[in-house]
Order: sequence, then structure tokens, then C-alpha cells
Amino acid sequence: MRDNDWWRQAVVYQVYPRSFADSDGDGMGDIPGLISRLDYLTDLGVNAIWISPFYTSPLHDGGYDVADYRSIDARLGTMDDVDTLIAQAHARSIRILMDIVPNHTSSEHPWFRELLASEPGSPAWDRYIVREGSGPDRETPPNNWRSVFHGRGWSHIRTPDGEPTGYWYLHLFDTTQPDLNWDNADVHAEFRTILQFWFDRGVDGFRIDVAHGLVKEAGLPDFDYPTTDDETPAMFDEDVAHAPFWDQDGVHAIYREWRTVADAYDPPRIFCGETWVPNAGRMARYQRPDELHTSFNFVYLEAGWDAARMRSSIDETIASHAKVGAPPTWVLSNHDVVRHRTRMAPIDADGSVDLERGLRRARAATLFTMSLPGSMYIYQGEELGLPEVTELPDDARQDPAWHRSGGTDGTRDGCRVPIPWSGDAPSYGFGSGAASWLPQPPDWADLAVSQQSGSDGSTLEFYRRALSIRHAEPALGAGPLGWLDSDDDVLAIRRTATDGSAVISVINLSDAVLHLPRAWGIDVLVASSEDVVVLNTGDQPALAIGPETAVWLGPTS
Ligand code: GLC
Repeated sequence: MRDNDWWRQAVVYQVYPRSFADSDGDGMGDIPGLISRLDYLTDLGVNAIWISPFYTSPLHDGGYDVADYRSIDARLGTMDDVDTLIAQAHARSIRILMDIVPNHTSSEHPWFRELLASEPGSPAWDRYIVREGSGPDRETPPNNWRSVFHGRGWSHIRTPDGEPTGYWYLHLFDTTQPDLNWDNADVHAEFRTILQFWFDRGVDGFRIDVAHGLVKEAGLPDFDYPTTDDETPAMFDEDVAHAPFWDQDGVHAIYREWRTVADAYDPPRIFCGETWVPNAGRMARYQRPDELHTSFNFVYLEAGWDAARMRSSIDETIASHAKVGAPPTWVLSNHDVVRHRTRMAPIDADGSVDLERGLRRARAATLFTMSLPGSMYIYQGEELGLPEVTELPDDARQDPAWHRSGGTDGTRDGCRVPIPWSGDAPSYGFGSGAASWLPQPPDWADLAVSQQSGSDGSTLEFYRRALSIRHAEPALGAGPLGWLDSDDDVLAIRRTATDGSAVISVINLSDAVLHLPRAWGIDVLVASSEDVVVLNTGDQPALAIGPETAVWLGPTS
């Protein structure tokens, strides 16, 4: 594979910088903290790091509210730190992907301030989506669109002394995140130069925030919501996927423009889109050869612990991506969803979440996912088997959706709790002191890197082993996938390399022991649990694997 094609089968590790490693003990993770952990990421076996936003931001949405796209938030570091990070990562053959937020700016961005300081209709107003309200006093918002974070999607433009005017601005997210107007030439030019600013510094690519939302349907028509109450118009929901603010055809022209910018570099820079669209066919449109290189496959993430849904999502994804010559991208967790250990956990009869089985399932699902063709993303802490933190004091919560929904939604802080590095240190070694911007659970000592490192059977060692095999086995690269016959609750694939060698990957999603066909052999490369035994009952030995277990076998030729 040519080096420029590294992204086609890369293992990318997502860092949520405020929660990864804190170098100065202020309780907030930072860039120097990340630099100090690069050896850890090298040992884990990742090819690239995607870092959630670290730009200057009032942090009303964890940094996805950017006040200045060309500077670093002082709490997270300096531009020198970022230059060092890029150099140190590259020295370890790790690529750096940043996160660009083009759907909206922070309301503290100079452009929005300029709008507030100028007259209606002036050029500054056209960079955002602003309309007059309807009704006699223009008291009714321009249309019925809602915010993803609950409540209405429009807020009044206010005078300097806080009086509402008859003008409203659109914010599909928080009120502090006004939507940009992508019909405006300044917006296009500005983002082209932001991309170039970071590409010139050596950044290898960008993850694109809300990539499917930038263009809104002309005329901003009302949307026929599937619910009449104030329920959130979630981003991922068949019912809202065709809303006039998601996945509009016009968005593709922007990515063709951006691709030209990325392709002008040597090596070419790459993009990964956050595209919450309802099916693989719509998603693959973003991966046409002159658009984005990859996009997250949220249909697979949403399939959960369900063999049939996993299989159909895999088939549809591979087929639709093949048509456009793009590799699929697999992901099970990120900073917006419940950690997959908790999400996949069964609920016991007494209503409690069985986190032990959750971990068992998460490891099995992860191992199977790592054997799929294409690239995959790992969210910080999943390699430690961290569960979602469900018990957080209300006053510690920062997710804007929590506040806008009156505490009924917006629990994303639960997957953003700082990482435990050292079992016996204050803040589990996240920082030099006890401070941590979100409280860490009292029972995380055993999950810390220090406890798991070198410990046989730990989730961390399991990830390390699986990733090293993934990199070493040619069959686990970009090549073809063939399904093998299996029971209903089992998925089994054969991956074949160009040299003819093959690896078989099996996941048993059932509650019962599974006997594997003798022809698959007994050569276990890695297993997600210890429940793998060789049966010597016939003329040829065979394997049996326990419930909720995955295994890789081979290589065979
Ligand atoms: C994306 C981000 C999420 C953020 C939202 C608004 O979905 O992943 O964290 O809140 O966009 O920028």
C-alpha cells in the first residue's frame, strides 16, 4: 500500500483533550499532557490521533464552540505545544488529525460580534443565518426548527443592552453556536484558509464536525417533525434524517472545494466526516473520489449487540463504499455516545446494568470490528474497558443539552470523565494533583493504565495484542471479506490477503458455547475472553469458544 493511502486502513485514536492527560494540575487535560503520553499511544499501536477541538473557546459545548480557529485555548496549551505535538507524533509515525467545526462558530467569534455591532442587512449579517421573525411584533421565530440540544433552534438578535430585536439567528445546537451561512463567499474563503493554516503547520487531516449539516434547504421551510412535543430532533434518527437542515445535496460542493485544498499538499491531507445519515448509500455519497476520504459509519455503531443488524450494516457499508472506491470506517464509541461497554451491557432482572458482561461483549465486538476491512477509530479509555459514568452530580455536568433539556437528556459528560493513568495517585494520575474537571468514580483504580499494563488478560493488553496482529497480518488490511456459514447469533468472516493467506474472525453473540468447524483450525491468534478450548474428540482437534466471545484464527493459506 502506498504511504499516501495510509488512511485506508488506519487505526485512529480519538483524544478528547480536556480529559486525556493534564500536565499542569489545573484539572483540565492539555496538549503537553497529550505529548507526554505519545509513547503510550505508540505502544498501543495506533497510526493516527484525532484530537477534538482545542481552539480558543468559551467551552459552552466542550470546545465545539470555536471563538478563534487559528489559536489554542490558553487552558490547553500554546501554538508551540501544537508544533511540538505534530513533530513528536510524526517522529513516532503517528499522524495528527484535528477537528474542524464549520457548521457554526461560537457567539464569541469576532464575526458574530461584528454582526451584533452592525446594522441589519450589513455584510456581517450575511455570514450567519438570520431572518426576521413573523407576526405583528416579529415575535415568532422564522420557522419551526428545533435545536439538537432541545428547545427552539432560533434566538433573538439582541441590542447591546439585551433588548430582543425582531431578528433571529439560527442555532441548530446551543444558543452560543450560531449557524454559519454557507451561501456566503466569505465563509467559503475563511474555511479554506483555516484548513491551509493548519495543513501548513503539518497537520495530516481533519475530522469534520456535523459534516452533513452545513447547507440548509433554500427558503428554510418548516419541518414536519415526527413528534409534536419539544423532543430533540436527534441527529441520528430515520425520522429526522430528511429534515431540511441535514444531508442536503448542496453540501457536497463544499467538500469538493475542500478536497482540492487537501490535494494540493504533498502528501495530500485527508478528511473524515461526521455524517449522521440514515443509510450506507447516503453516506457513501460523501466518499466520492473528489470529496471526503472517509466518514464515520454510525449505522454500524447503532447496530449494537445484534448479529443481524451488524451483518446487514457491514454488507451495506462495504457494497456502497465499493461503488465509490472508498474504505469503510468503523467506530463503536466516541465523545457523544454512551461508552460501548455500558451500551452493550445486558440489563439484569432487577434492572441493574451487568457491566461485567458489558465488558465481555465490548471486547468481543471490538475484536470483530478490528477485523473488518477499512479504518477504525478507538475512543480514549475504551482500551481500558472504561464504563460510562452515569452518576455525576448535576452541578458538575457541562453538556449543554443537559441544561437545555432540564436534566432529561444530554448525558454526554458520562463518557468524558478524565482517564485513569495510575491506580494509586490522586486523580488517578490524570494530573499532578487531585483536580479533575469532571469527578472520577471512586472505583476506577483497577482500571488504570498502571494496573492493566503488563497484566495478562487485561483489556489494555488485549487491545495491544489485537492491534499488533492487525498490523502484522496482511489479510487484515484492506482486502476482501467473505462470510462463512454460521448460526444465527454468530458472525464469521474470512479475510484474505493478496498473498493468499487468510485470517478467520468469529464472534459468538449467543449465551451458549459455540463449537467451531474443524476446518477452521485451532490456531488462535487472539481471543476476547479466556473461554477458548481445544477439543480433541475426533480425528482432528477443534475449537470451542465461550458465550459472548470473539476470536481470530489463522493465518491459513
Ligand atoms: C458534533 C460533536 C458534538 C458537538 C456537536 C456540535 O456532533 O461531535 O460533540 O456537540 O457536533 O458541534
